[in-house]
Amino acid sequence: MAFARLTALISIAFAASQVATAALTKRVTCSNGHVTANAACCNLFPIVDKIQADLFDGGECGEEAHSALRLAFHDAIGFSIHGQPGGGADGSILVFNATELKFHANGGIDDITARQFPVFQETGLTPGDFVHLAAAIGTGNCPGAPRLNFFFGRAPPRAPAPDLTVPEPTDSVTAILARFADAGFSPAEAVALLSSHTIAAADVVDPTIPGTPFDSDSQVFLEVLLKGRLFPGNGSQTGEVLSPIAGEMRLQSDFAISQDARTACLWQNMINNQNLMTTQFKSAMSKLQVLGQPRLIDCSDVVPVPKPFAGPIKFPASFSQADVQIACKQSPFPSLATVAGPAPTVPPV
Ligand code: HEM
Repeated sequence: MAFARLTALISIAFAASQVATAALTKRVTCSNGHVTANAACCNLFPIVDKIQADLFDGGECGEEAHSALRLAFHDAIGFSIHGQPGGGADGSILVFNATELKFHANGGIDDITARQFPVFQETGLTPGDFVHLAAAIGTGNCPGAPRLNFFFGRAPPRAPAPDLTVPEPTDSVTAILARFADAGFSPAEAVALLSSHTIAAADVVDPTIPGTPFDSDSQVFLEVLLKGRLFPGNGSQTGEVLSPIAGEMRLQSDFAISQDARTACLWQNMINNQNLMTTQFKSAMSKLQVLGQPRLIDCSDVVPVPKPFAGPIKFPASFSQADVQIACKQSPFPSLATVAGPAPTVPPV
């Protein structure tokens, strides 16, 4: 349940590029002592502290952080590059919750909107800025996650997003890719966005086992490919397929995407390739979090820097390459070690 670490080499290259960027960017020192690229971002620093304290237990990668990321997706994906549907990353899911939370795909979202709403009201931010700042902060609380961008200045939402714009785990890969394409995302970007499922758990797919994670530790792209052998809770539920590990849930859609000829190699390429996963996820999230929102100010430097995560990715104990359902024929499966010990049971979050 974490994003994996960047390699040392990448870190050095990244640090060098940061230095170069910093040299070219005029910085502002705020009255609160923070340094940022734009004075309009200064007031966000105390709001970041407040969100960490009031929503994320002082900076935890817990359920609220996971749910904040899911909320950002469900808020934004209602957008269509062809016009009409929702206003995109506008926070409509927070303030038009009486409408949007009735949508089947938004099952379980009511917990996080209820948690966020009072904090949102105290910040003075627009709903869209609040939802997408909280998502950037919450994601960054998870070790190894990229430091997501945050762009500031969304207008208040005008209307709820329409129903049937959020993908469901029972949807076909064709339907899922079509929905992502309609919102402006390629299959590669859709797979990149599913890196999010490495900090994810299900509450409502099987309500008898709330908080059942989709992977053990930054392993979603690997573990979704392992041969399924059990259901973690009350038998087979809608949207769920066999999971390889006790205590872990596998979504039907994640498995279908991992096996489909259009996405199988995109999926496999993410395994033990921390830099690819984090850079592509960050890039796709940058797009998602500004859908339908013109003329925003780059306030990314208010987002706290995530802690690194010590990889590499390994087969869970008792698993090996013989357990992998390889669907990508074009490139070799990465060589991975196996964790020592007996087969694990993944604890709920
Ligand atoms: C094919 C597209 C997707 C489908 C079908 C899907 C489906 C689901 C489902 C069914 C759950 C569990 C809900 C529950 O039982 O509580 C879930 C959880 C989650 N999803 Fe997705 N998802 C998709 C894409 C995404 C994307 C693009 C993101 C973020 C960028 C995302 C982030 C999350 C997170 C963070 C959770 C865990 C929430 C929590 O632990 O409270 N998902 N997803």
